[in-house]
Amino acid sequence: MSFKAVVLGAAGGIGQPLSLLLKANPLVKELALYDIVNTPGVAADLSHISTPAKVVGYLPPDDGLKKALAGADIVVIPAGVPRKPGVTYDDLFKINAGIVRDLATGIATAAPKAAVLVISNPVNSTVPIVVEVFKKHGVFDPKKIFGVTTLDVVRAQTFIAEVLGDLSLSSSINVPVVGGHSGVTIVPLFSQSSHPLPSGYATSDLEALTKRVQFGGDEVVKAKDGAGSATLSMAYAGAEFAEKVLRALKGEKGIVAPTFVHLTSDKSGGETVKKEIGKEIDYFSAPVELGPQGVAKILSLGKLTDSEKALIDAAVPELVINIEKGVSFIAPSK
Ligand code: NAI
Repeated sequence: MSFKAVVLGAAGGIGQPLSLLLKANPLVKELALYDIVNTPGVAADLSHISTPAKVVGYLPPDDGLKKALAGADIVVIPAGVPRKPGVTYDDLFKINAGIVRDLATGIATAAPKAAVLVISNPVNSTVPIVVEVFKKHGVFDPKKIFGVTTLDVVRAQTFIAEVLGDLSLSSSINVPVVGGHSGVTIVPLFSQSSHPLPSGYATSDLEALTKRVQFGGDEVVKAKDGAGSATLSMAYAGAEFAEKVLRALKGEKGIVAPTFVHLTSDKSGGETVKKEIGKEIDYFSAPVELGPQGVAKILSLGKLTDSEKALIDAAVPELVINIEKGVSFIAPSK
């Protein structure tokens, strides 16, 4: 069993390496690349790679978006402007909200059953935008829409491995990162790491490590000095999450990953997480068990330390504002 994957924003800094990694994935049989520029070139280049996926590039004329999306099993969205020094997630919203709305409209009409993986920032707001567009079209399925927060997990894995002095451990470190996907809304749960921090690790060091995960994106923005934000590490993280979704769609069991999802009130587990947070909130990044339908179950946040509870309490008010901003962009009367 193999799948059709679509990348929207495929010619960009994330889009190109992400498309490369998807082309290299044996679970992908067809790879459609859509962007407002340059996809024929990117597709021609990737099509020479000796892996099974058939690659086609699409541009807006002649219903390019619709054609790219036809028959999609999974759609990954890294379209939109990235941050630069001095540019906030709020600034991004002004441009990316409209881009994501239009792409979501395309998906809701051409591929409403596909799993949708949203990378475009600010994820805390763009995921609610996709959901509201899908609701408007009567095709919303909370199991299918994911905010990609994997880069926060990848960073947490790497930074723990650095503290432990052994980078070869990083990919085997299992550490949940929950909450949202910007600054203080990002909550790494170091106490649940499969590879604990050294005993006696100072509280001030733990706080610094937490901040490094929360603001890891800033390190990259600063180092790139005006040339954009994380692209290569994001492509790696996006491909890793996409691979998990594909393996689960194929029927593999027990695949768990943190992702920003709608906390529905059905039996999927959303209610449990809401109770753990102790606040009424419609979206949260929580560990999610993936399955053939997308979300199989939203899992408990697990045992939290007092400092992790405090981080979640600090995250929620900002998350609520971010979520509302996305919702009201599509459904202003709410
Ligand atoms: P980029 O500017 O290099 O690429 C964006 C691409 O989107 C460009 O090729 C552009 O032509 C395309 N695009 C713009 N409007 C479009 C439309 N209407 N339809 C299709 N394509 C369109 O930006 P980069 O660095 O690839 O970042 C993309 C997005 O990913 C940004 O919003 C960025 O903030 C976000 N991001 C998310 C992360 C995450 O962890 N979720 C991490 C890093 C970045």
